[in-house]
Amino acid sequence: MNVHQPNDLSAFWMPFTANRQFKQNPRMLVGAKDMHYTTSDGREVLDGTAGLWCCNAGHCRPKITEAVQRQVAEMDYAPAFQMGHPIAFELANRLVDIAPEGMDHVFYTNSGSESVETALKIALAYHRARGEGQRTRLIGRERGYHGVNFGGISVGGIVNNRKVFGSLLTGVDHMPHTHLAENAWSKGQPEHGANLADELERIVTLHGAETIAAVIVEPVAGSTGVLVPPKGYLEKLREITRKHGILLIFDEVITGFGRLGSAFAAQHYGVQPDLMTTAKGLTNGVIPMGAVFASGAIHDAFMQGPEHLIELFHGYTYSGNPIAAAAGIATLDTYREEGLFERAAELAPYWEEGLHALKDARHVIDIRNEGLIGAVELEPIEGAPTKRAFAAFLAAYEKGILIRTTGDIIAMSPPLIIEKAQIDELLGKLRDVLDALE
Ligand SMILES: Cc1ncc(COP(=O)(O)O)c(C=O)c1O
Repeated sequence: MNVHQPNDLSAFWMPFTANRQFKQNPRMLVGAKDMHYTTSDGREVLDGTAGLWCCNAGHCRPKITEAVQRQVAEMDYAPAFQMGHPIAFELANRLVDIAPEGMDHVFYTNSGSESVETALKIALAYHRARGEGQRTRLIGRERGYHGVNFGGISVGGIVNNRKVFGSLLTGVDHMPHTHLAENAWSKGQPEHGANLADELERIVTLHGAETIAAVIVEPVAGSTGVLVPPKGYLEKLREITRKHGILLIFDEVITGFGRLGSAFAAQHYGVQPDLMTTAKGLTNGVIPMGAVFASGAIHDAFMQGPEHLIELFHGYTYSGNPIAAAAGIATLDTYREEGLFERAAELAPYWEEGLHALKDARHVIDIRNEGLIGAVELEPIEGAPTKRAFAAFLAAYEKGILIRTTGDIIAMSPPLIIEKAQIDELLGKLRDVLDALE
């Protein structure tokens, strides 16, 4: 037996996995370098998904690895409640430097899900701090993914992530998703659908603006299968939320750190939120860490009352963890030194062309893209939704490419270091996979 193969797979209850299927025929990754994983049977697999949308600088990058090694030997852990350590502050300053103007403060978490919970709580507490504590409603969107904790699944709109988990948060409403058939085959932002943002006005009228705390959306909805915002849609959301004193939260867990060719989607689209949730690419996926960015106005609303009192009763044991902070700084250094955000912007047209050339591949009914994100939607097998895309995923892995599927949609988000030849390889192999599918 290969030394990397464990002798029993039953103890690990795997997340978001068909456990029984996996354990009959496991797919084990045992090494990673730059654009590739190595499998337990010694094959190289081209990473078309940056892990789970997180390894934006590719794998096992020396600067990040060394920073983590150094930090774990120097100071492994330090509390961030009523205590500090320098690198968490240094990283916060570095993050604020690349954030949209005015996003001046950073609250650390350990994941995208925790960033979402944190942002929702900050939104509620902010209104209360300003004497508008009746603003308790939260508005999400159909097909939205905001992680897996209770706040996130309440404002989220992916049915399977919600339906078996009870009654969730009360006082939540949802805007319609932005997927329109007439936008099929859109390159970049679709033409139609800005008016879907007007649904927010309807919800505001229904509940009363004075009861609504915040609206949360992914600028590009990723996990549901890549829904790019229609032209003018985010601008309208901003206009309506501003008009009614409602906070706008961008969930940038996927779009943050260069995925669209700017540091954040807020800059890419030129739309300024009040709060931004991030994780994943913050540390290149190396050590779990998330961060919520808050505007000065939000932060400052909390900074009142006696100075010896805690202003926000929230935080995690690992908020600002030194090893994660070291990984974060080295990650930002790597992005900057290698110009990876700019590189993503430069590669985006080539990626778009290659992706849309799959239009005539078998079973393909739509293709969508933005930055270095792409989705290829397949015609579902009648009576067996998700089966065709899952078969594509398995066949792709055998062929040496890692893709992701959600429903019958194939989603890809390669590391920003990908070469043009590797884009050709990824999409060429995907075509072969699709053409060979039942
Ligand atoms: C937009 C968005 N928000 C939140 C999350 C949750 O992040 P995590 O899995 O780190 O909790 C994700 C994960 O994919 C995401 O895409």
